[in-house]
Amino acid sequence: MVSSSHVLNLPVTLGWEDDQLRILDQTRLPQESTIETLTNAYEVWRAIHELRVRGAPAIGVAAAYGLCVAVRKSQHLSLDAFRAEMKEQAAYLDSARPTAVNLSWSLKRMQRAADRSNATDAATLYRTLVSEAQAIHREDQDLCERIGQHGAQLIRPGSGVLTHCNAGALATTGLGTATAPIYTAQRDGVAFRVFADETRPLLQGARLTAYELQRAGVDVTLITDSMAASLMAQGRVDVVIVGADRVAANGDFANKIGTLNLAIVSRHFGVPFYVACPSSTLDLDTPNGAGIVIEQRGGNEVTQLGGRAVAPPGIKVSNPAFDVTPHDLVTGYITEAGIIRAPFAVNLAAQFGQAA
Ligand code: MRU
Repeated sequence: MVSSSHVLNLPVTLGWEDDQLRILDQTRLPQESTIETLTNAYEVWRAIHELRVRGAPAIGVAAAYGLCVAVRKSQHLSLDAFRAEMKEQAAYLDSARPTAVNLSWSLKRMQRAADRSNATDAATLYRTLVSEAQAIHREDQDLCERIGQHGAQLIRPGSGVLTHCNAGALATTGLGTATAPIYTAQRDGVAFRVFADETRPLLQGARLTAYELQRAGVDVTLITDSMAASLMAQGRVDVVIVGADRVAANGDFANKIGTLNLAIVSRHFGVPFYVACPSSTLDLDTPNGAGIVIEQRGGNEVTQLGGRAVAPPGIKVSNPAFDVTPHDLVTGYITEAGIIRAPFAVNLAAQFGQAA
């Protein structure tokens, strides 16, 4: 698999080679870099559901290629039967995780490409789907670059930048979203430091963000989630940049559990709080955060750490994977079109109404 960002030595999340979808199994990082080939719809569904490929934009790209994997063996069917099969497989893949809108965004886009196609046989329509998935993949890399260019101005020499979860190269197929300004500033030779929240329960910050930033030569310090307020109280954080899984029309957004705490403490200490995301993460059909479905995950993610029990047997557990941050705690959205500021309901629609 080939990296678009080899200058920074970033890990490559996924690739399409010889009509095969290959992913880096993120559940094994940072200890092992294992590439897995996904050969059928169930394997793609499971890889997304089990977070081997995760992060909103990466899920979108994986699902687009995943749909190609799912219908590849159906090219002998009649065109109508192939189209019906494609619809069924898209609905199945869409059920892998509920919160990141990029999953359904990309599958709808694949469907539109099929609807537009004037292919007269299934094999030709299959090639159209592969081309569309490759376009989604290329665009994702380009969106990350542009987010980086717009967001880098927020990082000055000596800045302390705090981020949560992994909205990095591993969550996309390019520079990441929250990390795109970081990598861009790094490439520009700016000297700054990043604090990465470990991000319980699954430690995406420790396992993934700390890993990829360190690999890219960024000055990164790992902290536990509960340390952010204390760092801010000491004046060591100048800006917070996080990613998003879904942004509602009024600017409320869902991101990894713990993001809301961070937004609240940022407001308390007067630290600017930015959300970096491409327009594919906008859901302008959902009016506000109350309409965002939050994924609930298994209790063992909380009661175990590294496969070992850290809580008494039989304890009740709550494990929502995401929380919703209200728009009034957001300083701005760093998007491919620039930094969007309040009023978000007006400015997001004005910028992206047509596209979304
Ligand atoms: O459960 P995950 O690891 O898929 O959660 C990922 C996040 O919450 C990211 O911050 C979000 O998807 C933005 S990725 C650019």
